[in-house]
Amino acid sequence: MTAGTVFVSRLIPEPGLVLLAEGGARVVVGHEDEESPIPRARLVAGVEECDVLLSLLTESLDDELLEANPALLGVAQMAVGHDNIAVGAATRLGIPVSNTPGVLTETTADLTWALLLAVARRIPEAHRYQVEGRYKLWGPNLLLGADVGPGAIGRCKTLGIVGFGRIGRAVARRAAGFQMDILVHTRSRAPVEAEPGAEWVELDELLERSDFVTLHTPVTPETRHLIGEVELRRMKTTAVLVNTARGDIVDEAALVRALSEGWIAGAGLDVYEDEPAMAPGLAEAPGVVLLPHVGSATRGTRGRMATMAAENALAHLRGEPAPNPVNPEVYETEAYRRRRADR
Ligand code: GLV
Repeated sequence: MTAGTVFVSRLIPEPGLVLLAEGGARVVVGHEDEESPIPRARLVAGVEECDVLLSLLTESLDDELLEANPALLGVAQMAVGHDNIAVGAATRLGIPVSNTPGVLTETTADLTWALLLAVARRIPEAHRYQVEGRYKLWGPNLLLGADVGPGAIGRCKTLGIVGFGRIGRAVARRAAGFQMDILVHTRSRAPVEAEPGAEWVELDELLERSDFVTLHTPVTPETRHLIGEVELRRMKTTAVLVNTARGDIVDEAALVRALSEGWIAGAGLDVYEDEPAMAPGLAEAPGVVLLPHVGSATRGTRGRMATMAAENALAHLRGEPAPNPVNPEVYETEAYRRRRADR
């Protein structure tokens, strides 16, 4: 059993809360309304009073917040991405940070394919056409889309995958069923060479040759606006861009121009630069399918993410290395030892 308070910023799936309580933690949920963010003052007060913070990607955990409690023992983020957390500051302050990698890989790869297919075959448009009663007669020219598999012409399509970590590879595995050629761009070519059938190319070449381009890199200073006007202009006019990673990787204003002016044919997005807002004109742009950041949103995966975050939080509380550390080097620091010793 572990004594101490875990401040859960917003409501998480029940299994996570149950596990925390079973582990002996006192659980405080900061904000129960699921449609609004936790107010900053409430988050700061919660951090000040807790031993461990269980956070979501909707909160900005900046230097000021991390400094709010000199006795904070850890941050357990219920997400694989952690671009909302000043991890460098956490390490400097001796605060272990953990996340939930791996469990959402397959689920997010499924959604990537759902978006790709939905854009290619105009699924939302066709759905609206049907439910609005506009379908009067089968039509040879009705709602024509693009093939993803070889189609009647028998030409294999090319899928360009930018970033080839767990999710990028899971997306690639699914492409086999569509007999696609796979191009990959990563910063280093090493991971690709281990993957049969995937050809590493420079980003420019990937953009020029791909029929579908899908993004799977984390957002870093190097990948912010990796896809901007120049890159979009390099793509085929028939190509589709899919982004289930992070909005900042794409210059959204440039994407709106690309779609409106026909530089590319479509885009499927689950993430946005200024989430939940969208760039002006994006919602009305032709060929878009837009989702509200639901890449990992299945009951099974979100439940497992919650229990994983809870396991990490309990480890932070006990002073054990978290099962999924983001900054494992923190355990070797004097700042971390002081934090534990002051407890
Ligand atoms: C979702 O976007 C995550 O990073 O887990």
